[in-house]
Amino acid sequence: MKFLYGIYFFSIILFSGCGYAPMFKENTLPMDEKNLLAGQALFQQHCAGCHGEKGKGDGAIGLLLPVKPADLTDLPLFPAGLIEFSILTGGDTEYMPAWKKVLSQKEIEQIGNYLRSFNIKPVNKE
Ligand code: HEC
Repeated sequence: MKFLYGIYFFSIILFSGCGYAPMFKENTLPMDEKNLLAGQALFQQHCAGCHGEKGKGDGAIGLLLPVKPADLTDLPLFPAGLIEFSILTGGDTEYMPAWKKVLSQKEIEQIGNYLRSFNIKPVNKE
């Protein structure tokens, strides 16, 4: 019986981390012209300096950084919301800032849509 209690407590510890709500909010903003144009304008204003005009990671400031900014034209197919989550909270290093104090959730989602628009290649080619 003691053994069973052991398993019980062990599994509580093991699974206690699994029930949490999703870490990031899914981006449900429509990918329409209005949001894409807004996302593009925000991108040029806030991100292009490091990530480059076309998002290739070759912006003027980016070239001076010890860490190369991510090539945003070649992002893995993240679940909807994960790109936005990294914009909101910042990248893996101190060189990719968190934008939660600068941009609203909606603006971040517009940028997310814009980035997705050139990463989801089949949609783009149609
Ligand atoms: C000061 C330079 C700088 C600015 C401005 C900047 N970034 Fe970054 N970004 C980086 C660097 C450097 C990396 C790669 C290292 C890292 O993840 O910390 C990066 C990584 C990323 C990543 C990948 C993150 C990951 O977890 O793999 C995304 C997405 C991104 N940036 C989006 C943006 C967007 C959108 C903006 C504008 C709102 C922006 N960045 C503005 C420097 C910058």
